[in-house]
Amino acid sequence: MKSYNELTLAERRELYSELSAVYEEYRAKGLSLDLSRGKPNSSQLDISNGLLKVDLSSDHASEQGIDCRNYGVLDGLPEMKKLFADSMCLDPSDIIIGGNSSLQLMYDALMRAMLFGVYGSKAPWSQEDKLKWICVTPGYDRHFRITETLGFELISVNMLPTGPDMDEVERLVKDPKVKGIWCVPKYSNPTGYTYSDETVRRLASMKCAAPDFRIMWDNAYGIHDFSEDKDELADIFAISKEYGNEDRVFYFSSTSKVTFPGSGIAFMAASENNRKQISKYLGAQTIGYDKLNQLRHVRFFGTAEKMHSHMLNLGAVIKQKFDITISKLKVLSGLEIAEWTEPRGGYFISYNVMPGTAKRVYELCRSAGVTLTEVGATFPYGIDPADSNLRLAPTYPSDEDILLAMDILVLSTKLAALEKLGI
Ligand SMILES: Cc1ncc(COP(=O)(O)O)c(C=O)c1O
Repeated sequence: MKSYNELTLAERRELYSELSAVYEEYRAKGLSLDLSRGKPNSSQLDISNGLLKVDLSSDHASEQGIDCRNYGVLDGLPEMKKLFADSMCLDPSDIIIGGNSSLQLMYDALMRAMLFGVYGSKAPWSQEDKLKWICVTPGYDRHFRITETLGFELISVNMLPTGPDMDEVERLVKDPKVKGIWCVPKYSNPTGYTYSDETVRRLASMKCAAPDFRIMWDNAYGIHDFSEDKDELADIFAISKEYGNEDRVFYFSSTSKVTFPGSGIAFMAASENNRKQISKYLGAQTIGYDKLNQLRHVRFFGTAEKMHSHMLNLGAVIKQKFDITISKLKVLSGLEIAEWTEPRGGYFISYNVMPGTAKRVYELCRSAGVTLTEVGATFPYGIDPADSNLRLAPTYPSDEDILLAMDILVLSTKLAALEKLGI
């Protein structure tokens, strides 16, 4: 198959008119398909339905006899900490259990930093002159929005298959105004890449000019493997301790994509110094989070092993959707107009079309009834400088809808590339 760059003008014109005819046929169908939402569909949610049947009516006490119907236990039930610790290789004593959203814990952590500083700060961050934050791109729009809302200048660093471009990160952190970095270290949103051991070590050991630099380690997809053939992520706490830098790490995750998004359990893990500083303010914020939901999750899973097999059940459903998506993309192989990632877990595929055509692909898809995540969403300030990246979220639509949506996406990619090359 010829790459599009090798086509003559006459060949491009002929192909464009053929493809346009097919595209118009799809458009005439009046479809309404959605590849934009990183949400589980109902068949994935059904896998967690047992959680709705956990009956706490006659036994609502934790293992230590805490009555979970009542106030108390600011940092969460010990058995919930153990479950997270066992499944994500953490120390239970490092964990603070939160409410239903890890994003909220991240927002709170940075709000506290602005108002009070973090452990090691000389002053609240909001009293410092100009603050900067490293955003690994393409990345998660809601992360970027938090730091944008709080007034940080957002600095983009490229995501490589090994994680952030560490040469660039190490250069940037020599600036004391650079206070932190967003990281989704495993099956990153949207590339699906997992940080290499070397990247984790460099993050844990790098010399930061800001004494209170923080790594926001959002391990949202830490246990979201499709099968036993999975990516491995190095233990950032263990490695940062080797360099005396354990206070640098704020670790987050949740069961949002393990059980029910919006109705799960989130947690934060941090060093003792950090936890002491945080607890002071957390105690002013709440009397405690929802222990009944913690108890329900603990009773539903029982052990980390059971949680692991639950994740493999979920992973099998999601993998099928990824396989369908990627099999459709493969028709673009060799045309040199698109590239994509093929993750072994997580929720997203990163799709790069010919530079300068992502907005056009988005528009073509939209007018044929396919909604994609907005172009630019994966970059700070919503601007993709290369106009190339699209985030594909294949978990929500039915398999049939993915097939249709992908046909339209592939067509749109080809049409936009031909327009760019000249017709
Ligand atoms: C990387 C990442 N972090 C956090 C979240 C949201 O997590 P939560 O529901 O725990 O707030 C998402 C959801 O898509 C995500 O992709």
